[in-house]
Amino acid sequence: MGYKIEKATEIADNIFEFWINAPHITKNARAGQFVVIRINDSGERIPLTISETDGSLVRIVFMAVGKTTTYLSTLKSGDEIRDIAGPLGHPSEMGNFGNCVVIGGGVGIACLPILARELKAAGNNVTGIIGARNESLLLLKDELATHCDELVVCTDDGSYGFHGFPADILKKKLSDGEKIDCVWIIGPGIMMKITSMATIPYKVKTYVSLNPIMVDGTGMCGSCRVTIGGETKFACVDGPEFDAHLVDWDELMSRQRTYTAQEKESLKLFQD
Ligand code: FAD
Ligand code: FES
Repeated sequence: MGYKIEKATEIADNIFEFWINAPHITKNARAGQFVVIRINDSGERIPLTISETDGSLVRIVFMAVGKTTTYLSTLKSGDEIRDIAGPLGHPSEMGNFGNCVVIGGGVGIACLPILARELKAAGNNVTGIIGARNESLLLLKDELATHCDELVVCTDDGSYGFHGFPADILKKKLSDGEKIDCVWIIGPGIMMKITSMATIPYKVKTYVSLNPIMVDGTGMCGSCRVTIGGETKFACVDGPEFDAHLVDWDELMSRQRTYTAQEKESLKLFQD
């Protein structure tokens, strides 16, 4: 017995959206949390952010980057996955902060709808800034526009919206004196590191969602170890959101590369 994928769609180039029937997840799911899924009995467990919920359906959005996500991308509406555990991790800090900016890079954009929706419901003014390498990799912009008071869309190559990075937009807003009370940044490590540097001089509270390698997702294995303000934390149980200005980015990015050779080999074996 597994969990049915009610709807599977490729929503951008190599990026897939699944709505999975999992009432045990949706009952308590909040922005910032994630699930760990396993496709079949012998499958690897992978963490994916809860992108949105609708009744008993939970949405995950993923990019096919390696063996498990490539395998997952071959599943269709009506197929089942073996298990889905969650919601895991701490929910995003929530409250009426004032002017909030939520920033998504690449597939990290998928994490924003539920966050923007909850921030809006808490009474905040919400600005969304999303960025992708090009137009074909942009996702969920119409949906996000419904939750945000303002949405700025950027592409690295200028094929859609502002030609540049979300960090450029954030820097401009800050230097123009716009009042920003809280920022969330979700995307690749290097993007989160660079974008979060923009808020340091202005002392704006800035959260990032860290994506180290995770195995059990319950604080037992230690694989998701990160250093925050000089202290060891486990992203799965202490995070995944942390104060961006305290993250040891170099350690995070170096640990993410630990198994690059094995990951390449595993994908090749799967494709052959
Ligand atoms: P692999 O070839 O195994 O790895 C490809 C890349 O993914 C490598 O950079 C590797 O460092 C990273 N990775 C591999 N295994 C894991 C693992 N067990 N845990 C974390 N990272 C891993 N991706 C999405 O596309 N959408 C999401 O919403 C999303 N949310 C995430 C939330 C959290 C809390 C974390 C920690 C990661 C999230 N990721 C998300 C990343 C996703 O888990 C990896 O892309 C996936 O595990 C890759 O598996 P693979 O076998 O396809 O690729
Ligand atoms: Fe094992 Fe966090 S994934 S301790």
